[in-house]
Amino acid sequence: MITFDRENEVFYLNTDRTTYAMGVWNGEKLFHRYWGKRLVNRLGKTDLNDCVWRPHVADLGDNSSDVLPFEYSTYGNADMRFPSAEFTFADGSRVSNLTYKGYEITDGKPALDGLPSTYCEVGDKVQTLTVHLEDALQNVEVVLSYSVFEQLDAITRNVKIINNGERLLLDSAMSATVDFYGSPERELLHLDGSWARERHITRQPITPGNQSVNSRYGCSSSFHNPFIALCDKNADEKHGNVYAFNLVYSGNFTAGVERNPYNGVRAYIGINPTNFQFVLEKGDSFQTPEAVLVYSANGLGEMSRIYHKLYRTRLCRGKYRDSERFVLVNNWEATYFDFNEDKIVEIAERASKVGIDTMVLDDGWFSSRISDDNGLGDWYENRDRLPNGLEGLAKRINALGMRFGLWFEPEMVNPGTELFKNHPDWIIHTKGRKPSLNRHQYTLDYSRDDVCDYIIDTLSGILSRANIEYVKWDMNRCMSEPGSAFWDGAHQGEVMHRYILGLYRVLETITSRFPNVLFESCAGGGARFDAGMLYYMPQTWTSDDSDAVERLKIQYGTSMAYPFSSMGAHVSAVPNHQVGRITSFDMRCNVAMMGQFGFELDLNKCTDAELETAEQAIKTYRKLGEVFHKGDCHRLRSPFESDICAIEFVSEDKNTVILTVNCSKPMPSAPDEYILLEGLDETAVYTVEGTDRRFGGDYLMNVGWHYVNNADSKTEMTVFKKV
Ligand code: GLA
Repeated sequence: MITFDRENEVFYLNTDRTTYAMGVWNGEKLFHRYWGKRLVNRLGKTDLNDCVWRPHVADLGDNSSDVLPFEYSTYGNADMRFPSAEFTFADGSRVSNLTYKGYEITDGKPALDGLPSTYCEVGDKVQTLTVHLEDALQNVEVVLSYSVFEQLDAITRNVKIINNGERLLLDSAMSATVDFYGSPERELLHLDGSWARERHITRQPITPGNQSVNSRYGCSSSFHNPFIALCDKNADEKHGNVYAFNLVYSGNFTAGVERNPYNGVRAYIGINPTNFQFVLEKGDSFQTPEAVLVYSANGLGEMSRIYHKLYRTRLCRGKYRDSERFVLVNNWEATYFDFNEDKIVEIAERASKVGIDTMVLDDGWFSSRISDDNGLGDWYENRDRLPNGLEGLAKRINALGMRFGLWFEPEMVNPGTELFKNHPDWIIHTKGRKPSLNRHQYTLDYSRDDVCDYIIDTLSGILSRANIEYVKWDMNRCMSEPGSAFWDGAHQGEVMHRYILGLYRVLETITSRFPNVLFESCAGGGARFDAGMLYYMPQTWTSDDSDAVERLKIQYGTSMAYPFSSMGAHVSAVPNHQVGRITSFDMRCNVAMMGQFGFELDLNKCTDAELETAEQAIKTYRKLGEVFHKGDCHRLRSPFESDICAIEFVSEDKNTVILTVNCSKPMPSAPDEYILLEGLDETAVYTVEGTDRRFGGDYLMNVGWHYVNNADSKTEMTVFKKV
């Protein structure tokens, strides 16, 4: 799986289907040699003429460096492209030059200190290569780590920078950069959007110059996601080369491509260099987040299935990684801030009758929180609303045979609270500048240990007092005037990253202290839907937009990198609160059921027919949830390309297949469509559950499933069972 060809000095990182190779040139430089389909034959000794984009390069002294494929490049050596790392040294110089020093290959995969990452378990075929590079003049060591998940077809990378010299400033450090040889026909795919419109798919040609997606919001954000894929121009769900990068990080990031005049493309992903500067004293080190690299020779579908399986099984952790999760009802859209204990119990009573197992109390249960402009930070019950406290309410919910869940927004504080009055300097702010309010709130300064410890204690107190079995962890503003009263002037450039490290420490402590609680992350909907959060919490509230038609796009786009098992998805009332659209109850159930199924309405207001549909849907979900969440997902029709969205889920043994087809709007005199299924056993016969219809697996994959988009809110969920 990882080998070093000593004679030619080439490293091979092989998964079942992929090879990633790099070579040492002249005992001195580490060049990227190859990434793609698994190679059968070996590469020769690294020769500049083999890996350069311009022929006859004499040496590294002229500006040929600008075209060489460096495995990890630094600024200042005639390589003018976006650097992998930048330093300012004690002598004021900014030039650095890395040379190869040595390597180790070990079994398994070490955890990253203080940061989330994928992991391996006993029996997994996982190995790690560490390559040591050094700037000899400044005495800085750069350790590149690569872990190879052989069976899962993924390669992860991270970088550790160790300063053995004088105090230096680390100005940027990417988690991964990859130099692609001339590839002008490729396109860049990324996920962007906004609040209530998260992770729509954007695809654009890779033109000369730099193109990137970024977050400077303090979280990964709803605007862009730390995921990019370089695809062949005609790559689709089933065909073409795709090279994807995803960052296991929840803060400011950059991810992009730079195409130079010789059609070489450097792809990069890492912490956003804006407002980032880490002081490294002699002996200090800096650890970058992990980047997960996936190559697929068979289009975007295979790329996503690789990410899904890796994240489901080797990123998410804890009790709920593998076990069935909850079907919940959340009161947010049912009541907003207008509720009391009896009202919540009333919603729960009706919900329990249709089979919902968890009642989640959302925002507004604490201190002065009767609207969104006060209360955050004062985490004690509002006794007017909850006379018996959380304990009393949880008991009443439990008496209905349901679990009780609770909303928190622990990274925030409103200015009117006791917490803010007692600790005005506990917020993210810059001395002398007026801190901006956003949704009437400030961000607590999680770069400080005292703030993190206070939150850990406060939340632990609440979670131990009442029987709370689910937590929705929200975060509802971007960070502005970034700075901290705790850190001195020299360390202000560390605050945004230290915030994320603080958050991860809080999450690690709370989730391991309460292993039986199911945690769901949220950030004004899906503004922090990233692999970093999934390490601590196995599901994320995908979007505040629960309109079934909008969700088709949001969930489809999210599934590029993240599994359906990680997407919180609820049935809400119509007209929809975000877009005013009316869709059928059936469609809302079928769309939500693909994710972690739940409800966001007062079922007391539903008709008998709707209640019947909800009850049936929950039964179906309990039967089929395993296939939605552990099966292979195939995207058959894109809602970005037509009014039809078709997604198929195939159980690992190929015995059960679920085809979901939903249309966003009907077409008069609609043509007959044949949706070609994928991943079935072609020699087997499948029956359509609930009918006596039978189809060959080969028929369904080659002739297809007949569909006509002729009715509003048309929704189909068809289950095929192997005979
Ligand atoms: C955010 C969340 C919502 C809800 C509100 C409560 O917007 O995304 O689901 O919890 O906060 O204020």
